[in-house]
Amino acid sequence: MTVLAMEAMAGTFASPTAVATAFASQVVQWQQSHGRNSLPWQNTQDPYRVWLSEIMLQQTQVSSVLDYFPRFLARFPDVKSLAAASLDDVLALWSGLGYYSRARNLYRCAQQVVEVHGGRFPPTAEALQTLPGIGRSTAAAIASFCYGERAAILDANVQRVLTRVLGFDADLAVAANERALWDHATALLPAQPGLHTMPRYTQGLMDLGATVCMPRQPNCLLCPVQPVCTAQRQGTPEKYPVKTRKLKRSSESWWLLWAQDASGRVWLQRRPDAGVWAGLYCLPVFDSRDALVALVGALPLDDQPGFLHVLTHKDLHLHPVQIAWPEGAPPNGPGLWVEAGGWPALGLPAPIRKLLEAG
Ligand code: ADE
Repeated sequence: MTVLAMEAMAGTFASPTAVATAFASQVVQWQQSHGRNSLPWQNTQDPYRVWLSEIMLQQTQVSSVLDYFPRFLARFPDVKSLAAASLDDVLALWSGLGYYSRARNLYRCAQQVVEVHGGRFPPTAEALQTLPGIGRSTAAAIASFCYGERAAILDANVQRVLTRVLGFDADLAVAANERALWDHATALLPAQPGLHTMPRYTQGLMDLGATVCMPRQPNCLLCPVQPVCTAQRQGTPEKYPVKTRKLKRSSESWWLLWAQDASGRVWLQRRPDAGVWAGLYCLPVFDSRDALVALVGALPLDDQPGFLHVLTHKDLHLHPVQIAWPEGAPPNGPGLWVEAGGWPALGLPAPIRKLLEAG
């Protein structure tokens, strides 16, 4: 498909099917020559690897996943080994990637694949979507990469590409509008399923969103679908996508009891199953310095510099307080004394791990 032919198709005489055909074939061709083709989770149809990478890549930069993916695979080479692990081992390997509910769902998903599906990932997007942590877009990505299924993806990057191409300016915070965009995404798929085009098309949309059709200053000159892009024609690509709902952010201050015994061990507690850093090991948290003092009594405190840790919905102002803990009863229960060498094996939130490593 030449650019001229695409332009003609984008004009008034082209049928929607013809535009869809032009769009898909441009994305596929562009992916082959300009997309990312040698990431470690590509060039495989192993659903375990593809699933693991897609979960890691949710809300996480490719550069971070390049670090974690091989380490995770070395420790858990297949779904059976992951399902047989302990949640603590999984969380420990995930430590630093953030959004730990992903790791908990990953583990539950592995167990369901083994227990319910005999150790094989189900082969359709529809069935994949029933598994923990696999939403509609992730299910479609796995099914298209591994089985060549004609299934549409619609993560945030792809929402941006498609709303711009289509000039879709309805508010995506409204569920009905999001559903309409899913329908458009489905209509734009290559006409035929198969491993020849679907993985390239799916990866091509992701690559376009990540490397060309960026939120600010998209590089329209390099875009293969520029001739059919409504937003580019309008000259206002940055106004898409329209999504009104803003994140409500909150802020909390946490005082961290950093108790060390005479041999340098640190007292850690498991966080509750819900909320910030759910299920991870952490220094005991107090919501005021007074509450911490009330627990430790007359022991001398060594206040460390506070620092800010930014979560998706919350700013955490962290205030570590170091204390040399005497022999005898531990600070508060339940918890455990952990030696410096023992931290890597526990799932510690990244800022806590860094704090302890520096301390
Ligand atoms: N983001 C989500 N899935 C991806 C993939 N397969 N490759 C690169 N970035 C991605």
